[in-house]
Amino acid sequence: MKLYEMQQEILRLKKENDICILAHSYEAREVCEIADFTGDSYALSVKAKSVKNKTVLMCGVRFMAETVKILSPEKRVILSHPQAGCPMAEQFTPAEITALKEKHHGAAVAAYVNTSAELKAVCDVCVTSSCAVKVVCAVPQKDIIFVPDINLGSFVAANCPDKNIILMPGGCPEHAKITKEDALSAKAAHPGALFLVHPECKPEVTALADYVGSTAGIMEYAKQSGAGEFIIGTENSIVSHLQYDCPGKRFYPVSKELICENMRLTTLPEVYLCCLGKGGEEIEIEPEIMKNARRCIDKMIEYGG
Ligand code: 13P
Ligand code: SF4
Repeated sequence: MKLYEMQQEILRLKKENDICILAHSYEAREVCEIADFTGDSYALSVKAKSVKNKTVLMCGVRFMAETVKILSPEKRVILSHPQAGCPMAEQFTPAEITALKEKHHGAAVAAYVNTSAELKAVCDVCVTSSCAVKVVCAVPQKDIIFVPDINLGSFVAANCPDKNIILMPGGCPEHAKITKEDALSAKAAHPGALFLVHPECKPEVTALADYVGSTAGIMEYAKQSGAGEFIIGTENSIVSHLQYDCPGKRFYPVSKELICENMRLTTLPEVYLCCLGKGGEEIEIEPEIMKNARRCIDKMIEYGG
């Protein structure tokens, strides 16, 4: 089947089977094109609360599908590819969080949304890259343990000077690969370009940025900007999406290596199989974990909205 024919089939099947397709902005163009909604982690979480369809197909990674299930427990939630995970989600165990809470008595625990449901269940509030500063500033406690991303945590600490942020040594292996030298050489190659960076990059990289924000924030900034050239410091799919959406502007990756293999596992044939009821994985979470993780995500939406 040709790509276009498969897309038409998916559109027919999702209507017939009452499926809503959500896709993270890192997904391939042909997947984003058949989605009902595309966005960053925060926008997808908010959207998950209001979906009307019986089934939600999440094209992204496992923690995103879990977030949909936690916010819409009555729905059938399918993760587009069973192996699509985020390495950050497993960097801390619930027992380690409990030990940290005992060590830093009275501190709140802020969990990046890129964590498992089990981990969220023992934390106090969730954040995404787009709302982390707003949410952390709104948390009543002064001491905040931030897990797992040390780079996003450092960015939050720099932007919430009234808080005492306790950082933990985790992070995205892909974004953390980007060095100051990568950034300087991209800037030297494109001296007129603005540098737009995801806060999962190291502080010495974000320090060189003209804008630091989530995937959606970076896309929005580039589209609204009067500038004509941009170096993109996040997953390289964003470079191609922006180049397609803004043909009059030029977009360059900060490094050809910034690729999330987990996000790339979802292909259009995979989505087609899911719509036929043959692929992906249905997300199931224990009710107690679901209830406690929901408290954490609801707090994020309350503070971040
Ligand atoms: P966003 O919050 O920008 O969607 O980021 C999610 C992510 O996994 C970035 O690597
Ligand atoms: Fe996880 Fe990094 Fe991939 Fe985002 S880019 S899903 S943080 S591995």
